Amino acid sequence: MVERKRMTLPALMEKKAQGTQITWLTCYDYPTAHLQDEAGVDMILVGDSLGMTMLGYDSTLPVTMDDMIRHTAAVRRGAPNAWVVGDMPYMSYQPSVETAIRNAGRFMAETGCDAVKLEGGAEMADRVAGIARAGIPVIGHLGLTPQSATALGGFRLQGKSAAAAKRIVDDARLLEEAGAFAILLELVPDRVCGLITERAQGAIIMGLGSGPHAHGQLLIYHDAFGLYPKFTPRMAKVFADAGAVIREGLAGYVREVTERTFPAPANWFGIKDEEYDELVALVGR
Ligand code: KIV
Repeated sequence: MVERKRMTLPALMEKKAQGTQITWLTCYDYPTAHLQDEAGVDMILVGDSLGMTMLGYDSTLPVTMDDMIRHTAAVRRGAPNAWVVGDMPYMSYQPSVETAIRNAGRFMAETGCDAVKLEGGAEMADRVAGIARAGIPVIGHLGLTPQSATALGGFRLQGKSAAAAKRIVDDARLLEEAGAFAILLELVPDRVCGLITERAQGAIIMGLGSGPHAHGQLLIYHDAFGLYPKFTPRMAKVFADAGAVIREGLAGYVREVTERTFPAPANWFGIKDEEYDELVALVGR
């Protein structure tokens, strides 16, 4: 277990300045948040990926602000020290700058999170600027942006051609100028991520499936711990197969209850003989 202090933005910036990699995982619930906080994870993203990992939708689009608020508040309760980021769900920022500021404000006021994240480049720079002006730390998200997966042709590598990569490089600069303190690059080629990291003026560049050159790495918790039943993407490494451990435990539970070996006397409470006899007398046999 890591003894830790509450993470702050200056402390994250200091890690970047020292060349120490920043760790970032998604998380959606109280007990997992507790484990991640205890393990010393620097940042936690309450991603709208919870639509897929927790709620079983096929995409992130049905996720609402109310879903995000509930899960982000639970994560905050479980992780008092990590830098908790609320992920702005579909249509919580796209309609207008005002909508974006109001919903970013809801995250801060109702969940106690430390920052928000939204997807998109140049077209979202005014939302990023508005949120930053409101005093809310904001993270941009470029490359594969799941809320636009259909328009991007599916969950696939972005920025493969020089022209497409240049758009991502330009977008990163625009988001940084708009006030994003960090930018997540999801599923872009390693050297494109390296170039953006090298050229960042002050922003922290985080990578997901984008190689080793960023200031830190994000992983989807369910991919990294064997908990998403549909598939494990290539960009994830399974650090522990918690799914297999739980599966084995479930089989044991079903077996022991069926065989009447659970519960054992250690798992229940008795009543004194005289109390029980009196009870029987009261209710009759
Ligand atoms: O919702 C999420 O978890 C995300 C990641 C895919 C980056 O935005």
